[in-house]
Amino acid sequence: MEAIQITNILYLISAVAFIFGIKRLSHPKTARSGNLLSSLGMLIAIIATLTYPGKEFDFTLILAGVGIGAVIGAIFATRVQMTEMPQMVAIFNGLGGAASAFVASSEFLSSPNSPFIIVCLSVFIGSLTFTGSFVAFGKLQGFISGRAVTFKGQQAINAVIALLSVSLILAPGLFFDSSMYSGYLNAFFVIIVLALILGVGLTIPIGGADMPVVISLLNSYSGIAAAATGFLISNNALIISGSLVGASGLILTNIMCKGMNRSLANVIFGAVGAESEGGSSDGKEMNIKSYSTTEAAMILDAAEKIIIVPGYGLAVAQAQHVAREVAESLEAMGKTVLYAIHPVAGRMPGHMNVLLAEANVSYDVLKDLDEINPEFEDCDVALILGANDVVNPAARHDQSSPIYGMPILNVDKSRTVIINKRSMNPGFAGVQNELFGYDNSIMVFGDAKDMLNDLLKEVKEL
Ligand code: TAP
Repeated sequence: MEAIQITNILYLISAVAFIFGIKRLSHPKTARSGNLLSSLGMLIAIIATLTYPGKEFDFTLILAGVGIGAVIGAIFATRVQMTEMPQMVAIFNGLGGAASAFVASSEFLSSPNSPFIIVCLSVFIGSLTFTGSFVAFGKLQGFISGRAVTFKGQQAINAVIALLSVSLILAPGLFFDSSMYSGYLNAFFVIIVLALILGVGLTIPIGGADMPVVISLLNSYSGIAAAATGFLISNNALIISGSLVGASGLILTNIMCKGMNRSLANVIFGAVGAESEGGSSDGKEMNIKSYSTTEAAMILDAAEKIIIVPGYGLAVAQAQHVAREVAESLEAMGKTVLYAIHPVAGRMPGHMNVLLAEANVSYDVLKDLDEINPEFEDCDVALILGANDVVNPAARHDQSSPIYGMPILNVDKSRTVIINKRSMNPGFAGVQNELFGYDNSIMVFGDAKDMLNDLLKEVKEL
């Protein structure tokens, strides 16, 4: 067998590992092994590349890169909080895009005969992903305003930059002397600058709440840039892994858009979150009833069926373990306890599943939106723990609300709704929640972990 065939077989094995790894990521039970399998696939691909027949590498430089990258990766992996995961993915996407653009650039600069369109495709998408991802990171991390930044003519400017870039990629001769390499070189550098500007231009008009969707889309872009680079340097592993990232990023984007009942075009061009959003209860007085944990425990004591609704606040408070303990105590008293999982609760897909899996909550009691919504009709208590937008009834009827049309958990149909959060601050969408003023709603203010610890004591004394 020739050396190149062995390389390609190794690439094939790594591609199979990627595909099965991604498949296993779709369930919390198998996600860890999926991650491991994909990492193994990447290791095989790296070894196959570094032993590529006929290629000479500067191993000192490569090992230095691997060492620095491994240290940074290990620090990030152990330090970054679950709630900061979207930011981390944004940085990874941005650097992935930049890496593809750098490889394509070095190929073009060292061999002028490289196919110009493919070079530019990689460089254009990679550079756009780089600046777009760092703007997304800045917004989520609070370095720049999380609000949608809009101004007159913004979409037109973006459209002109995009059109100019496509023209330069397809017909550089319209702008520069394409009979000479220097003409292509000029077009190449202008395309990079335009892409860097476009990345910022496309991301700043998007509001903070939509950022995870944009990050998933940018993830897809980084995959496309990698696949284009793979074609350029004839590397099968890069083509396959880039295509997988491109496709899975798009699928994830679609799932998130569906969860919020928004079209992708509305997320990208809708500028949701540009200014103070109108919600049905904004400016209206709400009849807020604040209860103590002792009173909440008494209500739970009288209940038979309880549905726990976890949200972003539960993740922030890291209260998943004590939430499970409260649920177990209630079950021990003969009550039925279920968990309602909204597809976009938290800040990333599957956030609540991962959180509760970490606390060893059984998968059997986790019910998704379609499954749990009919259950609220005969539910005694819906216990909302740090969730807000995903239980806002305005989404069903208030056309002026930015979350109008988003499928929500119908907690208001329960006999009593107990809501735990720290204040009357709105959720990610920036709108007040009319649920808090409903006759059957009571608020128990406080950090979710502190409140649940108190509640656990009260419940145990019942
Ligand atoms: P949010 O609507 O963001 O509400 C979370 C609530 O938790 C806040 O109102 C906050 O109120 C409360 N909170 C924060 N820290 C807390 C703590 N330590 N203890 C108790 N409560 C705390 O969350 P949600 O209902 O999960 O909805 C998710 C939002 O993110 C939706 O708008 C969704 O569209 C958006 N989003 C999600 C995703 C994915 S994939 N999950 C993607 C894109 C967008 P206080 O500050 O008053 O405590």
